[in-house]
Amino acid sequence: MIHLAIVSVLVIVSTVLLGLFLTTADLLPPQASLQAETVDWLFGVHWWFIAFFVSLITVFILYSVIVFRRRKGERGDGKYVTGNHQLEILWTIIPIAIVIWMAVIGASTLADVERRDPQAITVDVFASQWVWRFEYTVPVVGENGEEILTAVASDTLVLPKDQQVILRLHSQDVIHSFFVPEFRVKQDVLPGGEEFTRELRVTPKLEGEFKVRCAEICGRLHYDMQAGIMVVPGSEFDAWLQEQSGECNLSDAECGQRWSQTYGCVACHSLNGDEGVGPTWLGLFGSQVELADGSTVTADEAYLLNSIQDPNAQIVAGFPPGIMPQDFDERLAELQIQQIIAFIMSLEAE
Ligand code: CUA
Repeated sequence: MIHLAIVSVLVIVSTVLLGLFLTTADLLPPQASLQAETVDWLFGVHWWFIAFFVSLITVFILYSVIVFRRRKGERGDGKYVTGNHQLEILWTIIPIAIVIWMAVIGASTLADVERRDPQAITVDVFASQWVWRFEYTVPVVGENGEEILTAVASDTLVLPKDQQVILRLHSQDVIHSFFVPEFRVKQDVLPGGEEFTRELRVTPKLEGEFKVRCAEICGRLHYDMQAGIMVVPGSEFDAWLQEQSGECNLSDAECGQRWSQTYGCVACHSLNGDEGVGPTWLGLFGSQVELADGSTVTADEAYLLNSIQDPNAQIVAGFPPGIMPQDFDERLAELQIQQIIAFIMSLEAE
């Protein structure tokens, strides 16, 4: 009995010390969303369970090994113990109760994290090898004062603080995974259209810059599939959206540069001559391009247009077909394509 008392005290002391260490050691990234608070609470409960069970097992083992060791001159075997119904019932019922309770708090935390706010705004997230693209739907006032919805595309996920955002996740090729450690949420992004669209809810509560990473092996450049996230005050967010939905009043080439960023072109086509997922744009216009079928074409306007509208028609030697998304023709307005071509034409090699 005295042994049991000593072990109990040691287990309690060890649990408290280990639990305090685990919960104060700052093992998780900053809590940047409302959902992170809920998830971290659940995590906190688990830290204490981990502390308790590690202590329970190791203290019992260490105590037995040290106190009941074979001393000098001892020859006999230890006491042979078989069956103890009381103990067996206890160590069956207590863990069952704990596991059921954990399932309950797990389910209630999940429900909490998935709760939809009726005021939430929606952002469509498009994943493709190996870029993220974000699309907002914004009401703008048309020529006759009517409200029309326009889509705003961005390569950075800009989010308003303290406002729930529903992210609708679409993949255009393989399975990707949307993961922001600071938000504590993660969801696979599936191809296959509307039926397979998945949702995540995030209520950012920390202003600043974060990163979305792809957490599902999705091909050669999986490691580099990331995009910036900016959490800004609500008023700043509204201003940003308005600005993005406005017309581009710059020169053609400058507007083209803007579209090449918002639509993610430059994630694959470098502007400095480096080889990327696709051919560099530097010095492309007017150059002789060797194609996979052995022929050579001049990169004139018609070639650039064709490459945007039907990227698999003329594959450049050394690059695999089917990599470039084939829907730019639908996603971009004709003017935007012309402006992107103007931008490419402006990138002369020195
Ligand atoms: Cu997309 Cu990994």
